[in-house]
Parts: sequence; structure tokens; C-alpha cells
Amino acid sequence: MAKNTKPLIIANWKMRLSVKDTLVLAKALVSSLNKYTNQADIVLCPSYPVLPLVADILKGKNIALGAQDVFWKAKGAYTGEVSGDMLKDLGVSYVLVGHSERRQYLKETDQMIQHKVASALSEGLTPVLCVGETFTERQIGSKDVVVARQVERALQGIELNVKDRLVVAYEPVWVIGSGQAVSAAEAEHSALVIKQSLVNLLPSKVVLGQVRLIYGGSVDAGNISDFLPTKVISGVLVGSASLAVDSFTALVKETT
Ligand code: PGA
Repeated sequence: MAKNTKPLIIANWKMRLSVKDTLVLAKALVSSLNKYTNQADIVLCPSYPVLPLVADILKGKNIALGAQDVFWKAKGAYTGEVSGDMLKDLGVSYVLVGHSERRQYLKETDQMIQHKVASALSEGLTPVLCVGETFTERQIGSKDVVVARQVERALQGIELNVKDRLVVAYEPVWVIGSGQAVSAAEAEHSALVIKQSLVNLLPSKVVLGQVRLIYGGSVDAGNISDFLPTKVISGVLVGSASLAVDSFTALVKETT
């Protein structure tokens, strides 16, 4: 996988904060994370309406801005959707794609996710493709098959140019928001399954040089060191523990 010395830490704030609370948190994090921004690649993903305001707060601060979704068309009659081009204009550089909550509640299919990955890359955004099995899928023994299939379908026909970057986040659906992460060994195993799927689809030089694999699902300051660094995992996607300045700062601190 891409050899980055710095861990990638992505905060996914979901729809959990008001506009006011988002701005308060972003401002507080800019100062509390100041001394760690050279040692970790930090990305904050607020909701769409707050992106321009958070972009202003992050200006010149060495913390990247991410969006929680992207639409696959550049322009047109698509009420309610937001294009990669618009996000790029707002200063966004990462976009979450295929988060399990969107697969579940918004009925996003592998094909929609594939379109989103393609359009994000074409806009020069870094897609953070989220994959992971449900509890039932794990119980019937199809975890590896499900994860490999999600990766293969999302990246079908996708090519990465030299400048493109891709992040794949392994997020077991059943541990998201549960307070209980999977073991590092289990995360590493799934990461290896994902790596193999990537190598089946993309030139290995691209996989090794341009793709990062991260883990998400109840990561906090107490368990992050279990996941970093491992041979394949080089970052984390954080929900609950990114919603307060103390918990997120403590988590980032653990990685540096
Ligand atoms: P969590 O969320 O850290 O609260 O489990 C992770 C995610 O949904 O990306």
C-alpha cells in the first residue's frame, strides 16, 4: 500500500452537529491539533451546508476538508445533489463514498458507488471508498466475499492517473457506533482481503503507490494504537470520537 509515514485520520461528523456546534468544534480543533498536523494527515468531514464555513476556518492550517458524499454528474437537473466540481470549488479534497449508512438508508448500490468514485477522481478529489460486512454476513461466513465484492464492483473499470489517490476504508457495519471495535487481527485480515481485490483490479504499482487502506468502526484514543501502524492499515475513519475536541485530540495524539 502507499507508503506514507504519516497516518491518515479522517473525522466523519455525519449529521450529528448543528451548524453552530460544527463551527465551534472546527475552531477548537484547529488550535488543539496545531502541534500534530505535521505528523498526521488530518481530514474533517462536516455536512454540506457548513463546508464553506469550515473551509475558511481551515485555511492555511494543514488540515484537509472532506465531504460526506458526492454526486456522479457534473451538472444538470438533479435536485438536491452536489457535484464534485462544486465541492472542489469549496476547497474539498476528500469525499466519503459508499458509507454503510448511505448504502442502508439511501439505498446506494455498488453501481452508484462506482459512478461516484469515478466522478470524484475525475474532479481530482480523493475518494474514501467505504466497505464492510453486516453482522449477519459475518455470522454466515461471507465477510471476505462481501468485502471483496464491494471493492471489485466499486472499482470496476476505474483507472487511476499518476496524480490520483484513493483511500479504501474497511468499516465493519456492525461495530460502527457500537463503542466496540474489531480486533486488530480481524481488521488486518480484512485489509489484506481488500488489498488482494485491489491488486486484481489495478496495476500493483498503483495499489502500492497511490492507494491507502484505513480502518473505521468505534476507533478512539484507547484503541487506535492497536490499528496503527500495521502492515496494510495506515489510517482511521472516526465517527463518535471525532465529535468532541478532547476525544479527537487525544486520538490524534496517540498516533504521533
Ligand atoms: P464510529 O463511526 O467511529 O462512531 O464507529 C465510524 C464511521 O461511521 O465512519
